[in-house]
Amino acid sequence: MTKPRVFVTRILPDRGLQKVLAQTDATVWQEELPPPRAVLLDWARQADGLLTLLTDKIDAELLDAAPHLKVVANFAVGFDNFDVPAATQRRVLMTNTPGVLTDTTADLAFTLLMACARRIVEGHTYAKNGHWRTWGPMLLMGQDIHGATLGVAGIGRIGLAMARRARGFGMRILYHDAFRSEVAEQELGAVAVSKAELLAQSDFVSLHVPLTPETYHYIDAAALRTMKPNAILINTARGPVVDTLALYEALKAQQIFAAGLDVTDPEPLPAEHPLYTLDNALVVPHIASASFETRSRMAEMAADNLLAGLAGQLPPNCLNPEALR
Ligand code: DGY
Repeated sequence: MTKPRVFVTRILPDRGLQKVLAQTDATVWQEELPPPRAVLLDWARQADGLLTLLTDKIDAELLDAAPHLKVVANFAVGFDNFDVPAATQRRVLMTNTPGVLTDTTADLAFTLLMACARRIVEGHTYAKNGHWRTWGPMLLMGQDIHGATLGVAGIGRIGLAMARRARGFGMRILYHDAFRSEVAEQELGAVAVSKAELLAQSDFVSLHVPLTPETYHYIDAAALRTMKPNAILINTARGPVVDTLALYEALKAQQIFAAGLDVTDPEPLPAEHPLYTLDNALVVPHIASASFETRSRMAEMAADNLLAGLAGQLPPNCLNPEALR
């Protein structure tokens, strides 16, 4: 029996990749950068399945070029690179990797929160560059975390995990979402508020909303103007949820205290971007889920989703079960 043809758009952790290699006729893109669009389209023409990253756009044009395609498995929980309705129309299954990266992502969000509040990177740079001459009564003062108010925008899995960490630090928790979270309210004493209240009252605002047309520039110049001067913004969601230039202006004018960003717009943020000139902007390169164990589990999950879809079964983490042929 011939094995299904698969294109894997990047080298993945072995635990997932070996499963795919064992059970399919797979080609793995070997470069660090994503395959160019023309290469992806070319593979789409031949493939029964694709294992993709968030940098690979799977839209109507690509789906139309893919007569044999049964399943596209994303190696990510976010799927704003997918046109799910277009795939459903063409009976192509789409999957993601929810759950396995929740705590690892929340760990990084809380790391950014603490690093910004206590100016960790600034302190390291200061010491390393030979500026540390004595104990300074006013040196590198930051914001307290204990007793402060955390505003969680989007209380899904990762938002809730962030709130749990904050609770452990004795923080008060506000959240804003279209839905009430009984768990957040009962377990953590979190209070549901409007977006305006969240921005006006929080010492830390952490973004955990998916990127949709509604959440594009959720934090814009107007939103930034309503935040507290001591406020710290954390974004581990998606870059375009924040208006980057408005954030730059707000940080430069010290309208808010700092921002910690795992995701940016554009992404990658080019080295010459003005945000890097600011001491109160901390940027890391979209690594929130990047622990050895979590990336391995994501690879395994994406592989299982892909293989189920290729076998004509409903993948465990299917975004459009109605597309099952
Ligand atoms: C995701 O999974 O959506 C993250 O952004 C990367 O792990």
